[in-house]
Amino acid sequence: MYKIAVLPGDGIGTEVVPQAVLVIKAVSEKFDCSFEMREGLIGGSALEKTGSALPQETQDIIAGSQAILFGAMGGTKWDRDPRMAQGSLLALRKSLGAFANIRPAYLYQALENASPLKRELVSGTDILVVRENTGGLYFGEKKREEGENGPRAFDTMVYSHREVERVARMAFELARNRRKKLTSVDKANVLMCSRLWREVVIEVSKSFPDVELEHLYVDNCAMQIVRAPRQFDVIVTENTFGDILSDEAAMVVGSLGLMPSASIGGKIGLYEPVHGSAPDIAGQDKANPIAAILSAAMLLRYSFNLNAEAQAIEKAVGKVLDLGYRTADIMEDGCRLVGTREMGNLIAREITVKG
Ligand code: NAI
Ligand code: MG
Repeated sequence: MYKIAVLPGDGIGTEVVPQAVLVIKAVSEKFDCSFEMREGLIGGSALEKTGSALPQETQDIIAGSQAILFGAMGGTKWDRDPRMAQGSLLALRKSLGAFANIRPAYLYQALENASPLKRELVSGTDILVVRENTGGLYFGEKKREEGENGPRAFDTMVYSHREVERVARMAFELARNRRKKLTSVDKANVLMCSRLWREVVIEVSKSFPDVELEHLYVDNCAMQIVRAPRQFDVIVTENTFGDILSDEAAMVVGSLGLMPSASIGGKIGLYEPVHGSAPDIAGQDKANPIAAILSAAMLLRYSFNLNAEAQAIEKAVGKVLDLGYRTADIMEDGCRLVGTREMGNLIAREITVKG
């Protein structure tokens, strides 16, 4: 029995996560595996009902689970409420020890026209961005003070050998199970942290002779992702660079509504769509549930090693897109417009009935 904490959160999180749950149920029907899914409140809706953005009951559900399927949290009503900080994702990821954030940028053939880049350039793109998630600039010492030239502020980028080593090892392992190419991204010509980063990555590479390793400076990498995205398999990089490059890679494959992510490395993995709670379309059955559904596929793969099951989900998504079904965010001429629930149903049915 695999134990999953289901935390829809706010806004469209409460619409897309149920579709991902439906798809997980379809998988358990089709394959011989069963899931215990317990739902908890998180974010603004939790704050309204319990006075806490991450209530004790939800923390207990998380502690009793092996993986978390999360939707999104936040909304104009709560974004400035200091009590939201407690449930903030940064804190949750940190407490889970999830030191790697991974985001695939995979271009479905049916969506080649939806990319803002030329079709012949993006066709076949399949990149996995591994971003260091609990260290670096976002977590280093920060300060603001009065100075001679007005206020000054600084943030500190810090990395230890161990922090680089563990994320590098994970990236090599992921690359080993894919096309066996790893691109490590740094700014070693300028930054001390990057020099250490490169040194450690090279050291780790000795245990992975079957994986081809290359190093790129981050500015060059940003350029290469839009110039020739097919050259990449797995990209590994530190927190800040990864934040930016993963958004860039996401754009190559199109919509925010398609992008899943995983935060892994600790005992409990956190899986969530990249998008937020989208208050502008919430409650209208318009949200694209595919990012949440693909997050569920990542959950099965990375927390439970259920590869065939994960692939079945990814294949079903591709099939439904091939058949021409689209939510509004990826709608094209000649395609059939469907809502959140219908898209979820189509994908689930593809798995149980036809898959
Ligand atoms: P957002 O990702 O919620 O929305 C950006 C735009 O993309 C909107 O126009 C939205 O309608 C569209 N969009 C997003 N997901 C979509 C989907 N699945 N299908 C179709 N269209 C989709 O980002 P925004 O507007 O900056 O933030 C809204 C709220 O979400 C804020 O309160 C913010 O703090 C929160 N947020 C939460 C995140 C999380 O929980 N991981 C991540 C980003 C934002
Ligand atoms: Mg970001």
